[in-house]
Amino acid sequence: MENQKSKIVNQQSLIKFVGIIGAGTMGSGIAQVAATAGCAVKLYDTKTEALEKAKADLEKIMDRLVEKGKLDSNEKERIQNNIKYVNSLKELKDSHLTIEAIVENLDIKKNVFSTLEKFVNEDCIIASNTSSLSIASIASSLKKPDRCIGIHFFNPAPLMQLVEVIPSIQTSEETLKTSVETIKNWGKTVAVAKDTPGFIVNRVARPFYGEALRIYEEGIASFSEIDAAIREMGGFRMGPFELMDFIGNDVNYTVTETVFEAFYYDPRYKPSFTQKRFAEAGYLGKKTGKGYYNYSTNGSQPDL
Ligand code: NAI
Repeated sequence: MENQKSKIVNQQSLIKFVGIIGAGTMGSGIAQVAATAGCAVKLYDTKTEALEKAKADLEKIMDRLVEKGKLDSNEKERIQNNIKYVNSLKELKDSHLTIEAIVENLDIKKNVFSTLEKFVNEDCIIASNTSSLSIASIASSLKKPDRCIGIHFFNPAPLMQLVEVIPSIQTSEETLKTSVETIKNWGKTVAVAKDTPGFIVNRVARPFYGEALRIYEEGIASFSEIDAAIREMGGFRMGPFELMDFIGNDVNYTVTETVFEAFYYDPRYKPSFTQKRFAEAGYLGKKTGKGYYNYSTNGSQPDL
């Protein structure tokens, strides 16, 4: 966060107006990143409650940064004024770059992309923050698929340094170059990856979660023992179960299922019944107060 303070967008940047589609966890975080970098952002969602929540959450985040002395109040005002909350896709018409962060469903994304293309300028880059869907298939919904690219932030977007940029086989060199430059201007580290399931991080992470779940299922160790071992011996900040609870078991399970199918059912990526049942039961993790751990009573005390 500290280093974002000074990261005002490069004046040479072509990308000054940014449209974000979906004001949930990722969309609101990406809006914060772009606004902090000096872009004029329009954050769009179909749900008024999502827009209101995004606005209220940003206010809280900004206040906390001011309290901690990481942001001054003029800067807070500047960032907040850079974001407009809109409930019509047409409002994104002047965007130089749009980043979509709605539900992880190919048909819904394709539908939004083809509608969006009717409103925006010829040269507007249309990006998706998808974790696991193919950029080529999303791009196929556009008349000009060469403007489409994956720009994959990690959660929480303002804090996570890495952004994967994923050109598909349709993406133009210019779209890739401008996207990479923009994300670097926003103070992030870029990893360019080919359009393959899970890209880099989510692919490497599948066996990490999968093997931890198998260790538990085979009765070898408990959630908290596995987490402690990985945290303390492996040097990870969170163990696999803490991380799945943080991400959400529904989101995490869906990504595993998508990667597994996309790799023609390669057993390396096989999803786990334990996680499926947790997701079905609504034990999604931190966001529902219960996952592999119970968060509603004693913070993150193990509930085994
Ligand atoms: P979320 O559920 O927090 O937010 C999605 C938002 O999109 C909601 O506010 C919803 O009202 C809105 N929405 C749904 N359909 C819409 C439509 N047709 N038009 C406009 N708004 C619509 O989801 P989250 O977690 O922010 O994920 C969004 C995308 O980012 C997904 O593709 C996900 O795979 C990806 N992603 C998620 C990460 C995570 O850790 N949650 C990390 C990296 C990527």
